Amino acid sequence: MFTITRHLPINAATTALREDVLQGLTAAQKSLPPKWFYDARGSELFEEITHLPEYYPTNAEREILAAHSTEIAAAIAVHTLVELGSGSSEKTRLLLTALRENGNLRRYVPVDVSESALRSAATGLLKNYQNLAIHALVADFQSGFVVPPTDGPMMLAFLGGTIGNFFPDERAHFLASIRDMSQPGDALLLGTDLVKDEQTLVAAYNDVTGVTAAFHKNLLSVLNRELAADFNPEMFEHVALWNAESEWIEMRLRSLRQQTINFPTLGLSVPFARDEELRTEISAKFRKEGIRAELAAAGYTLKYWWTDVAERYALSLSVVG
Ligand code: SAH
Ligand code: TRP
Repeated sequence: MFTITRHLPINAATTALREDVLQGLTAAQKSLPPKWFYDARGSELFEEITHLPEYYPTNAEREILAAHSTEIAAAIAVHTLVELGSGSSEKTRLLLTALRENGNLRRYVPVDVSESALRSAATGLLKNYQNLAIHALVADFQSGFVVPPTDGPMMLAFLGGTIGNFFPDERAHFLASIRDMSQPGDALLLGTDLVKDEQTLVAAYNDVTGVTAAFHKNLLSVLNRELAADFNPEMFEHVALWNAESEWIEMRLRSLRQQTINFPTLGLSVPFARDEELRTEISAKFRKEGIRAELAAAGYTLKYWWTDVAERYALSLSVVG
């Protein structure tokens, strides 16, 4: 059974995008939030990123899920799996299979801003998980989404290292808010990329074939389509650099020349100096003790910590309380 519920009004994308552009592109330091990467094309390009040899987090997380899904399922007999930023739900299959075999799984609730990703993921899953109720939510996990009522223990999964795309204050707020939506006994399965050598990290966000650059610049195409802006994506360069102090990757789009971008639907013209950068996303990398402390501050107790054999990436299982 498949249902899909929109928690975003049909034009929310445009309304919220207008606000983000008005705020982010008129500031001294230009910036835009990363959720606008993921239109249908962006979701496809991200899926391509996950197959790149340089982008190790996907394979590392899959390796951990393959090795430990049975343990995860044994640790808590969940009735509902809610997954935030589920995308293609491809790795999630390992979890769904284990939770079905070792427990009580009845329902899967994938939550994503990308309706196209949710629909294609669900179509694929329904073929293999016939008795599973799939209740997809088109929602922004950072603002005003609500976990549907569950009549049994729930596991919240937040995979792919997406939590690293929040700034530390947003992370604290996000963890506290999902904790507030949970009951004692509910669990959080969290995927976090780990601090490692700069070369490996930077390559993961700047592959040689340019798929990452295309994904990043797709943001400009979204602005052109949704707001009739006149970006020429070729006049911007994809930049990914390691901030060693904050321990995060910073993604920026750098203007290759002096240029002015027009947003006729906003009555706005945005000047870019040559080499001026538009900041779009960070991808924070973590250490075990930091994660444990952040989880504890939000009311979670870390119970299990698994890494891939090469110790590039970690998956943790925490419980409320
Ligand atoms: N979990 C998948 C996808 C990770 S990419 C994996 O591990 O491969 C991040 C996903 O989060 C994308 O599918 C994107 O559409 C979604 N996303 C990004 N920002 C979001 C937001 N604010 N609210 C809901 N979903 C969001
Ligand atoms: N959540 C992903 C990550 O932090 C998102 C991502 C991967 C990304 N590659 C990117 C975002 C390149 C912007 C540009 O790993």
